[in-house]
Amino acid sequence: MPCVSLVKTKGKDLDFGRVEFMGRIIAIANQKGGVGKTTTAINLSACLAEKNKKVLTIDIDPQGNTSSGLGIEKNKLENTIYQMVIGECSLEECKIHTPIKNLDILPSNVNLAGAEIELIGVKDREYILKKHVEQIRDDYDFIIIDCPPSLNTLTVNAMTTADTVLVPIQCEFYALEGLTQLIHTINLVKQRLNPNLELEGVVFTMFDARTNLSLQVVENVKNNLKQNIYKTIIPRNVRLAEAPSHGLPINLYDPKSAGADGYRQLAMEVIDKDESEAYAKNEVAEIKYRKK
Ligand SMILES: Nc1ncnc2c1ncn2[C@@H]1O[C@H](COP(=O)(O)OP(=O)(O)O)[C@@H](O)[C@H]1O
Ligand SMILES: [Mg+2]
Repeated sequence: MPCVSLVKTKGKDLDFGRVEFMGRIIAIANQKGGVGKTTTAINLSACLAEKNKKVLTIDIDPQGNTSSGLGIEKNKLENTIYQMVIGECSLEECKIHTPIKNLDILPSNVNLAGAEIELIGVKDREYILKKHVEQIRDDYDFIIIDCPPSLNTLTVNAMTTADTVLVPIQCEFYALEGLTQLIHTINLVKQRLNPNLELEGVVFTMFDARTNLSLQVVENVKNNLKQNIYKTIIPRNVRLAEAPSHGLPINLYDPKSAGADGYRQLAMEVIDKDESEAYAKNEVAEIKYRKK
């Protein structure tokens, strides 16, 4: 029996055929700060790129930590996502190839903090990011957007652009706090701005196997949340906290660490989910049988 091999990969000629898919846009959002959004954006992007996926990471948080965490000197840039959203530069002028293979970024820095005010009264301001990203979405397998810790215009722009929202949940006592509000916002964006938006799922972060609390939080969330929960649980791992100060994602900073294992596994789950959904929607242009 030949084995069916379903491979999603952008524009590559494979020995068993050419397969084309739509790029998937995932916004990483949670209005709580410190839950692991940026750590997930950096390391999920890098681990997807390591799996030979073409990835664009969009840093839409004025803190710019995703940009610096991926080795970009954010304060020396002429063009950032701020210039792009206020119409002073194009996406191509803002885009940077990171030192990491297969990984590009639209970087940000503190200037973006002014955008919220400057966009007041601008027509269709919720669609600004989408208009830019739509033009290049098919150049990438995955576009990962790191959101700021609030439900402001920038986050709404991310959700209007995205296909799905991935919500990191920190394994702590107040894990579920704010989640109802976040799901309400996702539903509002879906009703009014982006009917295709779905919840990608939640992923637990900073899990500490030595504490009962982490286990209790996971059990509690699983019992209370109907949404998709990723099987991968990201452990608390000091190497994940150290890596950004070296401008490296975890798979390059410490490839054998528990943190690298966690994010590689999450990347595989994201790829598998994407491929099975694409297959279900008949987005697969061609499936070939791999010869034995
Ligand atoms: N799994 C983890 N293990 C250890 N430290 C982590 C982990 N995830 C995040 N951190 C640290 O926790 C802090 C908050 O994480 P961050 O990703 O910046 O959250 P957010 O973007 O949601 O504000 C950072 O200092 C980060 O290095
Ligand atoms: Mg952040």
